[in-house]
Amino acid sequence: MRRKFLVALGGAALALSLAACSGGGAGSDGDSSDKKPADLTIGVSMPTQTSERWIADGKAVKEKLEAKGYKVDLQYAGDDIPTQSQQVDQMITQGADVLIIAAIDGTALSGQLDAAAAAKIPVISYDRLLLGNKNVDFYVSFDNYKVGVAQATALLVGLGLQTKDGGKGTATGPFNVELFAGSLDDNNTQYFWGGAMDTLKPFMDNGTLKVKSGQTRIEQAAILRWQQETAQKRMEDLLTSGYNDGTVVNGVLSPYDGISRGIITALQNAGYGKGAKKLPVVTGQDAEIASVKLINDGVQSSTVFKDTRLLAEQAVIAAEAFLQDKEPQANDTKTYNNKVKVVPSYLLPIETVFKDDITKVLVDSGYWSADEVAAGQAKK
Ligand code: BGC
Repeated sequence: MRRKFLVALGGAALALSLAACSGGGAGSDGDSSDKKPADLTIGVSMPTQTSERWIADGKAVKEKLEAKGYKVDLQYAGDDIPTQSQQVDQMITQGADVLIIAAIDGTALSGQLDAAAAAKIPVISYDRLLLGNKNVDFYVSFDNYKVGVAQATALLVGLGLQTKDGGKGTATGPFNVELFAGSLDDNNTQYFWGGAMDTLKPFMDNGTLKVKSGQTRIEQAAILRWQQETAQKRMEDLLTSGYNDGTVVNGVLSPYDGISRGIITALQNAGYGKGAKKLPVVTGQDAEIASVKLINDGVQSSTVFKDTRLLAEQAVIAAEAFLQDKEPQANDTKTYNNKVKVVPSYLLPIETVFKDDITKVLVDSGYWSADEVAAGQAKK
């Protein structure tokens, strides 16, 4: 990419002057395809370490790049937007050759994307699409609409309204459910919610599922920054305002394991899971180890597994393509419009995990060991 650009400009003199005026870092000095991996740095910007999934992503991307000999600058932003902007700014000025970014807020890094483009640094948007700027070169993620479909389907299966293979279940309802969504500044939130609502709507329309709180709009269901504590508080409020008349919650749609754990804590504090008051069916996402244990113990019903090892691998393949002045291979060029352009994407499949899938999907594949599942903790 950069090579074509420089050749088009015609020659080394221009290339040199271009490098000089764009800051002179390794990322801006012309042709990375002529360099050894050890001379190339990939900046990896991750949102937070409060969720295991991003720790696993960061670790996997770093290890895979380092195994190929590249230098890696991995930074976590503590879910703070100014920190992430600053970290990416620094990667650019220090001469990163490629950037891999999982944004906190998809729209907040536009200045950094412009600066990266000016320095000819390709940008790979990692799992969360960077929005509102044309300088996003590639996107690696999962089929996020399908994640929402899978979560809603897992709720229906957990309630017995559907069977795992898509058939009709034996339960008839009606069931009381409550709905949770992710952070509204994350593009994925709309996809998860969209997939889930399309799946649940017929059951809500015919009265099989009742959202007792009446909170069926995404703005009401959203949890800023996907925070466990915020989710716990909302669930507590829903229980006090809607379920102190003896009625019980039968199911909760949750888009992420951390949110699920907040919801479960609120429910347990209100007496669910003791005696006859069964815990409702609670869904999730990410197969975080604490939640996998809860699923194994029959506390959380399901999660959606997204193999971060495969995602990291795709990010590395894309980064390497850019470093060799090639275009990474996309498997989707239609779905992800970032409001300025459709970003070529590589999307990976997902898998729903109930208790009886843990061994096959998570343990046999080496994602978690049986010991880690039993302990509910990742080994360092
Ligand atoms: C990711 C999910 C994750 C959520 C919270 C989303 O962007 O796609 O896998 O659960 O962020 O971290």
